[in-house]
Amino acid sequence: MKNIKYYFAPMEGITTFTYRVAHAKVYKPLDKYFIPFIEPHEKRDFKNKELQEILPENNEGIYAVPQILTNRAEGFIKVALALQKLGYQEINLNVGCPSKTVSSKYKGAGFLARPQELLHFLEEIFTALDLKISIKTRIGRDNPEEFYQILEIYNKFPLEELIIHPRIQTDYYKNTPRMEYYQEAIEKSTNPLCYNGDLFTSNILQEFYNHFPEERRLMLGRGLILNPSLLCHGTKEQLQEFHELLLQGYLSRGMEENNILYKMKELWFYQIHLFQGAEKYEKKIKKTQKLIEYRRIVEEVFDYSIVDW
Ligand SMILES: Cc1cc2nc3c(=O)[nH]c(=O)nc-3n(C[C@H](O)[C@H](O)[C@H](O)COP(=O)(O)O)c2cc1C
Repeated sequence: MKNIKYYFAPMEGITTFTYRVAHAKVYKPLDKYFIPFIEPHEKRDFKNKELQEILPENNEGIYAVPQILTNRAEGFIKVALALQKLGYQEINLNVGCPSKTVSSKYKGAGFLARPQELLHFLEEIFTALDLKISIKTRIGRDNPEEFYQILEIYNKFPLEELIIHPRIQTDYYKNTPRMEYYQEAIEKSTNPLCYNGDLFTSNILQEFYNHFPEERRLMLGRGLILNPSLLCHGTKEQLQEFHELLLQGYLSRGMEENNILYKMKELWFYQIHLFQGAEKYEKKIKKTQKLIEYRRIVEEVFDYSIVDW
């Protein structure tokens, strides 16, 4: 599809810098790769793991956008300034995380339950910062009707873009995206929009293009993890190359075997479904404790043909 900007969604634990850079090397790089969220800390700018994720030299060859998760303007500003010093001109605010531990503290999608505080937060950060700020949001915490007020708040600010995952916090990833509220945003938002949610296959993407022919920005997460070549129809060889690059990337970072296996297993939770009839390998991959055995199992999986997505 021409003229559409595609973004890789941030996925904590999965879309690491190793993953992002490997993806961009093997496939045509997407327009943006969002970095999983960073939370402000009282006494320091970044934990080492966070610093590794955002260091520009670890994000070579991609346009990376860091994301901050907080409901305190002071913390957001501090981290945003530190990111600006590293060279970032664009920062994303997470108002979408549905996790209970996050939302119960009125952060992520929980922030949506306190619209007045959200308004003041945005006033403060937009006054203090000279940066492009985008927001990744759900449409409410308990009720999708919350979205009308939330959208009015977002409309008060010159956002770089408003990325909407049209579920509420209590949906988690259940049910289907509430497209009527995305339609509402198309009609009422004064900011550029980006759609995110359940774009898993070429057919679903085609349906989206048909329904929303004017939309020009799409963010994909699980669909791309399942099939990293979803947007460019790559070959099985490319998929193997990508897998190898990822594994080598983790090895060259000096990660311990069990940590690498943990990361790869998370990936296969999604990716196994790309191989026709290979579901039985999901358990085998999950169980293995040795990289050498893991490699053997994965080689067998690659013998299966790829489902036509
Ligand atoms: C394991 C996992 C980790 C995620 N981590 C983040 C995150 O750090 N920041 C964020 O904004 N969204 C995060 N998300 C949400 C995704 O970015 C995306 O919005 C969600 O998966 C819906 O898009 P999809 O249907 O294309 O997957 C995460 C989702 C999953 C499943």
